[in-house]
Amino acid sequence: MNRDDFAMLDNQIIYFDNGATTLKPKCVVDEVINYYTKYTANAHRGDYDISQIVDTKYEQVRDKVKDFIHAQRRDEIIFTKGTTESLNTIVFGFMNVYLEKGDEVLITKSEHASNVLPWLELATRKGVVIKYIPLNQNHEVTIDNILSVLTNKTKVISIAHVTNVVGDIRPIHEIGKLCREHNILFVVDAAQSIGHIPIDVVQDNISFLGFSAHKMLGPTGIGVLYGQYELLNKVVPIEYGGGMNSYFESSGELEYKNLPERLEAGTQNIAGVLGMGSAIDYLQTVGLDKIHKYELELKKYAVSKLKTVPNIRIYNENSNSGIVVFNINKIFSQDLAIFLNHFGICVRAGNHCAKIVKEEINVSNTCRASFYLYNTKEEIDKLVEALNKQDQIFEIIL
Ligand code: ALA
Repeated sequence: MNRDDFAMLDNQIIYFDNGATTLKPKCVVDEVINYYTKYTANAHRGDYDISQIVDTKYEQVRDKVKDFIHAQRRDEIIFTKGTTESLNTIVFGFMNVYLEKGDEVLITKSEHASNVLPWLELATRKGVVIKYIPLNQNHEVTIDNILSVLTNKTKVISIAHVTNVVGDIRPIHEIGKLCREHNILFVVDAAQSIGHIPIDVVQDNISFLGFSAHKMLGPTGIGVLYGQYELLNKVVPIEYGGGMNSYFESSGELEYKNLPERLEAGTQNIAGVLGMGSAIDYLQTVGLDKIHKYELELKKYAVSKLKTVPNIRIYNENSNSGIVVFNINKIFSQDLAIFLNHFGICVRAGNHCAKIVKEEINVSNTCRASFYLYNTKEEIDKLVEALNKQDQIFEIIL
């Protein structure tokens, strides 16, 4: 699908590491170049023509993001460096004040480090209790499993929409409903779902959401924090400086701006914001439903073909996103990734920053092929062809 739009594909590579970052279409690259060659200026600080162009474009992206995730207000959208900064801001700018000792936060062992470590740190600082929702035999979250650990001290559920190893899609609509019924805040890490499946923060009763642009065809170093206005308005800034204050005096008298500026101190990644806007346009033109359907087709095809490879073990056959994790018996996953690199195939190997998912899938390191709209069945055939040469691995990589 749309392969001609991706210059990186001219480099004779088979790029199956979309869970780590995606390739960028020409329109995104052009948008970044245009900013640096046609209207370089800071945002919200200038009174000349090109600065006005930048202000307008920058704020238009906020509207695009708002519509993309179906938020109600444009000031519920904060630009951050990415998912990690978004989740850290939620935990240390809001939960740090909101939660009390003994309050319980539910996460899972499939979460990425950025949705585990801030919570573990908060547990150390405040005595908040982190509990893991048990997963079913397919490593999925179910409502019954959540109910099995829910107590009257549960204040937050914080989970990925799609996990980055197992690749399961969480039933966020049902979980959001449960959160509403039990007066629980619902935090969603959308790093692996944004750009793959639609999300509606209002329908799904999401309190806070974080994602990165680089996993949805956009530039690196830019992402989004969404929060329901009443909650986001209570977030204590993590950073203080230019752009977020209305005034300050030597006496210490000061006033901070309203949202969204209050949470965007300093010069922002303007090129990143504009590139992210272009990525959203691109995704909407192709259509998320079409992308997801195609990824599932690739995943199904990959599983059926990979099953024919000798000594293979696939860990997430049943998950319904474009992620396949596997190992070849007696070959270390990183050796396998280096071997595949010899054939121009890019996969990720290791624990994928999800260091406790091993307690669920009983293996610490895997190879992960994660598909996106520009991948093809022919590329999957080449992966299978390479894996079938596994007996040559040590001749090739040593
Ligand atoms: N979190 C990214 C991944 O899953 C980097 O690969």
